[in-house]
Amino acid sequence: MTDLGGRGANPRAVRPAGQTADLPPGYPQEYRRVATLRDGRSVLIRPIQPSDAPALAEAIESADADTIRRRFLGGHPQVTPELLDYLTTVDYTSRFALVAVEPARQRGVAVARYEPAEQDGTADVAVAVTPGWRDVGLATELLRMLAQAASERGIHTFTGTYLADNRPVTALINDADEPANRVTSRGIAEFSVPLPPGSRALGPDHEGTGNTRAQGSSGPG
Ligand SMILES: CC(C)(COP(=O)(O)OP(=O)(O)OC[C@H]1O[C@@H](n2cnc3c(N)ncnc32)[C@H](O)[C@@H]1OP(=O)(O)O)[C@@H](O)C(=O)NCCC(=O)NCCS
Repeated sequence: MTDLGGRGANPRAVRPAGQTADLPPGYPQEYRRVATLRDGRSVLIRPIQPSDAPALAEAIESADADTIRRRFLGGHPQVTPELLDYLTTVDYTSRFALVAVEPARQRGVAVARYEPAEQDGTADVAVAVTPGWRDVGLATELLRMLAQAASERGIHTFTGTYLADNRPVTALINDADEPANRVTSRGIAEFSVPLPPGSRALGPDHEGTGNTRAQGSSGPG
């Protein structure tokens, strides 16, 4: 994979013991998990890294119009090196993203991220899952892990904007631990949902779904 020269690309950087050479400084290995989904398939979930840029470009460019409309609330964004660098180079604190990778083919099948929102302690959350991997609990698991990461980093509220007729997102919000605030206007809904410390936050705690186990730093992904 091509590395687009993100901030983690300096080979001279001194890394803490145990830090894998190709990973950016501060890469939170503890968010590397194998999740078993409701249909029995497994995915590797891990924090995003700069070398994910080519795969992300392909995913955005090949996504169907409805997915793009729901994810970006508009048309296909222009996939520039700057956009890819922005999306794949995060500080894992104020900006955090997780990818889900199909182990057999090493293909990315989902991305979830949070970005700073207007108010301190709040973050905007977004998620997209490849159609063939939907409705088996993957977004639920990604948001659970993302909420945990956010909560551990001092973020107390997730906010977001979505098309009001987006039923899976409505279901995810309805299943949150805490009641969400929601305002809908002209087909666009805005929500905010508190993240109690250590909570699963968004989505239900499916029995047998989002069943995760930590994975060591060796291995693919
Ligand atoms: C929204 C999205 C991320 C959900 O991903 P997912 O992995 O299918 O979600 P999950 O399997 O975790 O299911 C979450 C909830 O949505 C429900 N759901 C899933 N697909 C559904 C569908 N087609 N119709 C109605 N509800 C659906 C699930 O039943 C579940 O609700 P429950 O917990 O009450 O049973 C996915 O549909 C997607 O990528 N859509 C396009 C991009 C988008 O809309 N992003 C969100 C805006 S940023």
